[in-house]
Amino acid sequence: MGKTTHAVVMTSCARFLIPIENHKKLMKLLENLNWRYATKSFNPDKKVSAEHIKSLKEAVRLSASSYGLQLYRVLVIENPDVRSELRKVSYDQKQITEASHLFVFCTLTERFEEGIDEYFHLLFQTPGANKNELNSYWNTTKLMVSGMEETNRKSWMEKQCYLAMSTLLMACAELKIDACPMEGFEKERYDSILGLREKGLNASVIVPVGYRSDFDQTQYRVKVRKDQETLFISLP
Ligand SMILES: Cc1cc2nc3c(=O)[nH]c(=O)nc-3n(C[C@H](O)[C@H](O)[C@H](O)COP(=O)(O)O)c2cc1C
Repeated sequence: MGKTTHAVVMTSCARFLIPIENHKKLMKLLENLNWRYATKSFNPDKKVSAEHIKSLKEAVRLSASSYGLQLYRVLVIENPDVRSELRKVSYDQKQITEASHLFVFCTLTERFEEGIDEYFHLLFQTPGANKNELNSYWNTTKLMVSGMEETNRKSWMEKQCYLAMSTLLMACAELKIDACPMEGFEKERYDSILGLREKGLNASVIVPVGYRSDFDQTQYRVKVRKDQETLFISLP
């Protein structure tokens, strides 16, 4: 699957003289990204260990976000009864119940100013923090976010969720844990089943994680991606 990508990387590595150890890591990452696929059928008997779940959470925690604000929360659901309810409002997609855990990325619907404050309180504690500069930056950030039109703010916060989701997918691939990014679910029904509105949250995107079933035919399909010549435009 996708073996040609490797040759392209080798060429650019030779050109830019990437140290061999880093090159090996990059090759491993590409190999793992080739290995991963949007898993349609999980083995319900194989659970992801608590230690690995902790590492996946750490990867999500380290994800980039706009201004570093992390205006989202992530639910990690194991409970089979809750997941049965969620499957009913996810077009009956079986990954919801067959996977080991379900990550639900949620945007804040209110109190986003508190979310900004949380970040700045952390920033104030960092060595060498300049209180005057930070106070002014804090106010500007609050004005910027509160000044956004509501739909734009929601869409902006959702982008951060998708970015964190992407970090989760990469971390899963690195640990050889299977995953499926999903937006095929009824967001408002998720909000009510999970009591998200009361928590000031909205479901945005979900990722079941676990281990693929041997019977999942999707894993045997060739990965389809546009080539670099199509995807990238090099400007002189
Ligand atoms: C944002 C997003 C939403 C997706 N929603 C679903 C979904 O609801 N159900 C599903 O089976 N796959 C879903 N997918 C998986 C894509 O169909 C899959 O990633 C794509 O076909 C590429 O295949 P690959 O990831 O296996 O390489 C989603 C992917 C993304 C990125």
